[in-house]
Amino acid sequence: MGKKRIFLTRTIHDFALKKLRERYQVEIHTGKIPISQIKLRSKIENIEGLICFPYDKIGSDLIDAAKNLKVISTYSVGIDHIDTQYAKKKKIRVGYTPEVLTDATADLTFSLMLDVVRRVSEGDRIIRNGKWRQIYGAFDYVGMDVQGKTLGIFGLGRIGSAVAKRAKSFDMKIIYHNRKPVSKNKEKRLGLKYVTLNKLITQSDIISIHAPHTKETDQLFDMKIFKKMKNSAFLINTSRGKIINEVDLVIALNKKFIAGAALDVYGSEPINENHPLTKIQNVVLTPHIGSSTKETRVKMAEITVKNLNLGISGKKPIYSVGY
Ligand code: DGY
Repeated sequence: MGKKRIFLTRTIHDFALKKLRERYQVEIHTGKIPISQIKLRSKIENIEGLICFPYDKIGSDLIDAAKNLKVISTYSVGIDHIDTQYAKKKKIRVGYTPEVLTDATADLTFSLMLDVVRRVSEGDRIIRNGKWRQIYGAFDYVGMDVQGKTLGIFGLGRIGSAVAKRAKSFDMKIIYHNRKPVSKNKEKRLGLKYVTLNKLITQSDIISIHAPHTKETDQLFDMKIFKKMKNSAFLINTSRGKIINEVDLVIALNKKFIAGAALDVYGSEPINENHPLTKIQNVVLTPHIGSSTKETRVKMAEITVKNLNLGISGKKPIYSVGY
């Protein structure tokens, strides 16, 4: 019997490819990223395992085209690009990579938060553009302290909790909104208070989004919310761009309904230098690098391979959704 066939929509680390090649007939997409749905469809027909990325839309139509597919292993914690319900119905396993990227993403969240409130990137741009003309004035480039400020965490899963842990050591007050409150023990340990969404929006000095993108969270952060936020408040997003209505955010920033934003994720990626957000000084932008550390990306590759192996042999991936 020949080796089972697997397909990767993009390459991953050499050590991971080596492991995959020992067991499978491996094909890797090398052309334009993301792979077109037509090409992916033609590939998915005959494979048993698929390794994909958060921008590869794996909908029911694609799943229907797969005749032998046993597992979809995504190199991401996000699973909103996969129709997991449909995969479950078709008894196709879905593996993903939570936990290993929690700290990296929480660290980036904190970097963005400190950057935007202390105007770090803005200062860097000022120097690079030759605009730093006068030394050390009382009112120059002043930012905001985070100590004693209220951080509102929207979505208290693994990453939201890791952000809370960091915020606690920065002496911030932490409130959160989640589908359900977490246990009293956890609230006590992290120094958290559960609040309604409305309270989170109106009381926070900084709001950080850590929820998955779902029907309920799609475009949730819109003008209605921005108008309710303190006009001294900042918005941070390292989860999924589609949770924010970007058109409204640009208006809210320009009209000073809020004080600033720091974003790692966008409605459609990549964004380019002409995106309206790039024209606003009190905005920090990073190119979807939440999990992008050498160590974390290696761990993600390891889990992606393990999830794939388990799924192909009919077992549940280490981190599995649905079936
Ligand atoms: C994920 O894993 O879903 C992240 O968005 C990638 O950094």
